[in-house]
Amino acid sequence: MSKPHLQTVLQHIGQANFDEKTGAAPVAMPAMRTSTVRFKSLAHLEQATQNLQQGGRSVVYGRSGMDTHRALEDVFCELENGVKSYLVPSGMASISLGILSFAQSGDHVLVSDSAYAPVRALDAWFLKRMGIEVTYCEPTVAAFKAALQPNTKVLYLESPGSLLMQMLDVPALAAFAREHGLISIADNTWGSGLQYQPLTLGMDVSVIAATKYISGHSDFLMGAVVTNREDLIPAIHECHYALGYSVSADDVWLALRGVRTMPIRMRESGLNALKVCEALNAWPEVERIFHPAWPKDPGHQLWLRDANGSNGILSFSLNTDRARAVRFVDQLNLFGIGFSWGGFESLVQLVEAGSLSHHSYWQDQQMPLIRLHVGLEQVDDLITDLEQAWAQSA
Ligand SMILES: Cc1ncc(COP(=O)(O)O)c(C=O)c1O
Repeated sequence: MSKPHLQTVLQHIGQANFDEKTGAAPVAMPAMRTSTVRFKSLAHLEQATQNLQQGGRSVVYGRSGMDTHRALEDVFCELENGVKSYLVPSGMASISLGILSFAQSGDHVLVSDSAYAPVRALDAWFLKRMGIEVTYCEPTVAAFKAALQPNTKVLYLESPGSLLMQMLDVPALAAFAREHGLISIADNTWGSGLQYQPLTLGMDVSVIAATKYISGHSDFLMGAVVTNREDLIPAIHECHYALGYSVSADDVWLALRGVRTMPIRMRESGLNALKVCEALNAWPEVERIFHPAWPKDPGHQLWLRDANGSNGILSFSLNTDRARAVRFVDQLNLFGIGFSWGGFESLVQLVEAGSLSHHSYWQDQQMPLIRLHVGLEQVDDLITDLEQAWAQSA
């Protein structure tokens, strides 16, 4: 039988093993809540410890997780086409684990300027104090090349980038990183492995906020770091252990439940988002729409080449003043005003100009930018809501 599609694999992976005596197994992996593990004898403990030290999967202490965690780690490897994954308590923690695993004092890190803004907080509050220097670049090979230093160690990027969904030429950037001996790390929250696979496109490490589409229900925070390079596993392993990243079994259980329906949720949100793009495109005040699946998005060709699908996140700029944009957002009924995305619900955010000032991709400098997460509501109702709010805000 040929390898089933990822959507099929996601329905079968991460199930509990059959009980040797009864031959039965629960379909849903139970949440194994425990802070520690007890052993029948010291010999069993020693065997487990040795296996763990040799890269095996024994459990000796709760912090590194039990079978529930192992099941989700398998899911992330499958999604990202990786060989090993590590769970962490948030998407931001996956970014810190990714970078701290490979950058040391005296190193230099290149970061795409459209990456999730809190990366800059990690830099300001932590990397600087460790003596790690960061340069933010327009995410092109030419700009990264110009910023390269003899001590550059890591290339970090996010594709599509935050807020403007800027598609990057990841295969070219990954090849550049390899040519210069850099460890390349991609934030793949947008694709969550299903719609986009940076490791397959040549990157070394993928970091994901499972808080978004993996969860799908806006009810927990989590992240994962995945690699397909065996030689990089020890560095991630040591850093994960030393910094004490740990995730609750209940949250892992929610993630396992969420991921089963991720394909249909992402597809439905993506179809809804395209219909919203069409509706917005008819408004004279909408200057530009940022959504890579939208044919007029400048990244559309890269999206067609490199992605398998899309999702519900989009932004649009308005050729009006900010006050009108504020009135519009306040008049919306079905879009909750709030951060985040990837859940069942629609959300809206008026993006502060300050959070875009460092994006080389942002050309509509003076215009308000609105980001929507288009959820799983009936799309006609969402469009009606957008239109009534726009009319009321005039
Ligand atoms: C692209 C991206 N990466 C990472 C994160 C961080 O995820 P978390 O909120 O789980 O820390 C977010 C959150 O919005 C995000 O949008």
